[in-house]
Amino acid sequence: MTKLIAGNWKMNGSLAANEALLGALAAGLSARPACDVAICAPAPYLAQLQALKAGAPALAVIDIGAQDVSAQASGAYTGEVSAAMLRDFGCRYAIVGHSERRQYHGETDALVADKAKAALAHGITPIVCVGETLAEREAGRTEEVVKRQLAAVIHVNGHCISEIVVAYEPVWAIGTGKTASPDEAQSVHAVLRAQLKAASDNPARVKILYGGSMNAANAATLLGQPDIDGGLIGGAALKAEDFLKIIAAAQ
Ligand code: 13P
Repeated sequence: MTKLIAGNWKMNGSLAANEALLGALAAGLSARPACDVAICAPAPYLAQLQALKAGAPALAVIDIGAQDVSAQASGAYTGEVSAAMLRDFGCRYAIVGHSERRQYHGETDALVADKAKAALAHGITPIVCVGETLAEREAGRTEEVVKRQLAAVIHVNGHCISEIVVAYEPVWAIGTGKTASPDEAQSVHAVLRAQLKAASDNPARVKILYGGSMNAANAATLLGQPDIDGGLIGGAALKAEDFLKIIAAAQ
């Protein structure tokens, strides 16, 4: 299966910095990378990415993604951005349920499932994030937590579950420099794989990405695990050299 390397810029960037970063990526990307590549940018910069892509053939291989999407279609929801709006700016992906949104914005499993549904209804692939906190891991609850988070999305989106991407992001590994070991990540991915298989009558394999301090040095080993189909990259996606190395490691 083609792997997917997706950058999540989080709340970073500026018009000037984004242009420089994409320029460096354009210079370093091969015309046909052997993996899919996406960048999930802050909403105000989606138009810039769309324009930069249109102006540089080398960037055609990069798909644009958002970092969140509203569960609502339109109306009085101040500050929200709808899936239809994301479509207008060429988004192919939208991250939903990132742990930072669950933690700082109180997003529940049910809301995350509704966001995935809104994205799917507009032809946007939701990248559904699941992952346990350190306390949950230490209490031996990792499997229970990630299965509960994914089950909510399956419950609401069962008939098109093969259209989603899942990202396993252990919360304790995000931005900390602590990566799950390849074995730790693989064993959770295998659990998620089995859960997806049981939920889908479509043999299409859902991509399961790993995220959490993935970098140029550890990417190849993580991506070499049988159930790791790509990466969701935070910090290392902000440096062209590192992001290009991770893309190369996925080939
Ligand atoms: P880091 O790669 O910075 O740990 O972030 C991972 C992440 O949260 C991607 O969504």
